[in-house]
Amino acid sequence: MRLIIEDTNENAGKWAARYIVDRINGHQAKSDKPFVLGLPTGSTPLSTYAELIRLCKEGKVSFRNVVTFNMDEYVGLPEEHPESYHSFMWHNFFSHIDIDPKNVNILNGNAPDLQAECEDYERRIREAGGIDLFLGGVGEDGHIAFNEPFSSMTSRTRVKTLTYNTRVVNSRFFDNDVNQVPELALTVGVGTVLDAREVLILALGAKKARSVQQCVEGAYSHAWTITGLQVHPKGILVCDEGAAEELKVSTYRYFKDIEKDNII
Ligand code: GLP
Repeated sequence: MRLIIEDTNENAGKWAARYIVDRINGHQAKSDKPFVLGLPTGSTPLSTYAELIRLCKEGKVSFRNVVTFNMDEYVGLPEEHPESYHSFMWHNFFSHIDIDPKNVNILNGNAPDLQAECEDYERRIREAGGIDLFLGGVGEDGHIAFNEPFSSMTSRTRVKTLTYNTRVVNSRFFDNDVNQVPELALTVGVGTVLDAREVLILALGAKKARSVQQCVEGAYSHAWTITGLQVHPKGILVCDEGAAEELKVSTYRYFKDIEKDNII
């Protein structure tokens, strides 16, 4: 696993954006096939999205031949609800770039048959040729997408019950009222994320320090699904100083040293 430690949230976002742009442009230079990008929601990717938007407006990258798959969506929240992940993605990212709306895939949390929707999502990912790069965030309890603690490390897209803790954390987007936060979500599985050819997880702020510590120094365990990154051949964890603060000094120094000459 690579661990990139940037000084601020903004610079971590810039690092991730540069990496994504490099991969899209590299792919487009040698193939006509779309680049397939997995995407998260939450506060964490906002600095990355802001930088990607800037680079797209400057003509440094185009999303015209990019297909996206989002990680998750609440169950039962109308798409037009301001806190649905559909709204989040269009508001914070897709509306500002040159992506073709038909290339955007987001789980439908209002599908009449949720299980069928999940199976169909996996099929669509397969038909797109698999995900080239999955960008993700991490929860305070180490979850990736909505794979809460004790999710199977080989799980696929499915309906998931959110922990009370996650609902409390996410209630900041719902008038601080936990009862407004849906109890269920659709989410790609840990296995779905790990099938991507590359996985880049962002962790920003001191609230993510325990998740970073478990991911880098802890044992591979379904108790912290982020540790799935340990078994991915091309896993990258990008964090800021706050999120790195539970690491041992020797671990911190090791990664700072081996990455010091790398721009991406
Ligand atoms: C949510 C999302 C995750 C996200 C996590 C962290 O529960 N399902 O995909 O990574 O929370 O969110 P934030 O970035 O807002 O801290």
